Amino acid sequence: MSTGLRRGGRQARSADDQISAPRPNGPAGLPRLLVGLDASGAPMTLADHGRVHGPIPRPAPLELIEAVERSGLRGRGGADFPTAIKLRSVAERSRRGTVVVVNGSETEPASAKDRLLLARLPHLVLDGAVLAARAVGARDVIVKVGEGSAAALRSLEGAISLRGGDDVTIHLAAGPEGYVMGEESAVVHLLNGGAPVPTFVPPRVFERGYRGRPTLVQNPETLAQIALVARYGDRWYRELGTDADPGSALVTISGAVAAPGVYELAFGTPMTDLLAAAGGSTEPLQALLVGGYFGTWVESSRAFRLRLAREDLRSVGCSLGSGVLIALGESGCGLHESARVIQYLAAQSAGQCGPCVYGLRAISDVFGALADGVAHDRERDRLLRWTAEVRGRGACHHPDGAARFVESALSVFGSEIEWHRSSRCTAVPAGMPVPGIAARTSGPRAARRSAAAGASARSSQRGSGGSGR
Ligand SMILES: Cc1cc2nc3c(=O)[nH]c(=O)nc-3n(C[C@H](O)[C@H](O)[C@H](O)COP(=O)(O)O)c2cc1C
Ligand code: SF4
Repeated sequence: MSTGLRRGGRQARSADDQISAPRPNGPAGLPRLLVGLDASGAPMTLADHGRVHGPIPRPAPLELIEAVERSGLRGRGGADFPTAIKLRSVAERSRRGTVVVVNGSETEPASAKDRLLLARLPHLVLDGAVLAARAVGARDVIVKVGEGSAAALRSLEGAISLRGGDDVTIHLAAGPEGYVMGEESAVVHLLNGGAPVPTFVPPRVFERGYRGRPTLVQNPETLAQIALVARYGDRWYRELGTDADPGSALVTISGAVAAPGVYELAFGTPMTDLLAAAGGSTEPLQALLVGGYFGTWVESSRAFRLRLAREDLRSVGCSLGSGVLIALGESGCGLHESARVIQYLAAQSAGQCGPCVYGLRAISDVFGALADGVAHDRERDRLLRWTAEVRGRGACHHPDGAARFVESALSVFGSEIEWHRSSRCTAVPAGMPVPGIAARTSGPRAARRSAAAGASARSSQRGSGGSGR
């Protein structure tokens, strides 16, 4: 690959030459990450990538980390952690031989953004990974992808084979798919030849990860954003978004919207504009699920007042997670849909920590009984006691995420429990993508009847790849 790289040193450069100075050719407005995306669905070639974004820059390691810090970039894999702190923590350990892992697992069933990036814009993610590797002194990048993500694997294989002059070796690894298998210690354990299950911490992966080396695990979108910050500067990055939440984010919007897919939106965008970006709602909405299956249900009347901003989302107890938004229409049932998600989360426990294995299963059973109308309203208190008990009791955050989801479902849909007891719920399956869990409707008999129909619903959105623009 012809890079036309600027040679960087550790010495300070003139102010005009530093990353903080906006580059003239950064995309103005949106899209940023998705600029140049081929409508045919084909991966962007290396030549087209070069035409859109120019050559990969070569900032000095510290310069890049400082620019990322000034940009305010936070991780897009769900934990929302400041990216510069992670870069610094690994860079400080560079003498021990560091590694960068691209966590392309995308195990959140309602998310499609990482597969979109890896399948269609592989060089943007790989640029980010190479830049991060140089910043932390790593010679190896490992891209880990779920083995069912055929398009991403194909595209990455092609992209990696064409790159040259990266001074970093890029490896590709495919692994089994399951909700907790995307957790960073599970990813590293798999790459170390173990089972894809979270490991007990400490040590954290940035201290001792792949082959015992300090390991930077980063989400593909985070790395793609790093590639843009390195090219166009942190001031450019902050031209979109708010002071507290700069830049743009990829959001996978699904449910009762006319055009489900992956959309790039600026932080600070009103929630109503997010829905409009996805073609608008197809029916009146009762609630939005923000942040995926570790996320939070918010009644539509409250959700419509929010912006895509941490401050707003925090005010109703939620966060963007991995950028997932699901719209639940009036024709669907929040209790039934939530029961399916909880059953899924309970089944996804890696089976290592008692409170997670037994607690989530018990929570799922009782929640399912409430949705089926065969448990009394007072069971709600028992559920809340159990969710408090499982929180913080696992090696990973799986029980915490599941507990948050259950609590928000009870808070938003709890008033419908009595409806279910008196068989007055007439909702139809909303088709939320919950792998392996059949669609449900009211009453145990109706639930059994709908089980057969569930198989088609569960595959309707998973693996669709999402549209982008
Ligand atoms: C149960 C569980 C599943 C996760 N799955 C993913 C995933 O599929 N992809 C991902 O990037 N991060 C996932 N994470 C978060 C990772 O552990 C880690 O925080 C992330 O990859 C770091 O990248 P970031 O800082 O760029 O967000 C998961 C976390 C948990 C607790
Ligand atoms: S908390 Fe649950 S998912 Fe996480 S490691 Fe323990 S058993 Fe596995």
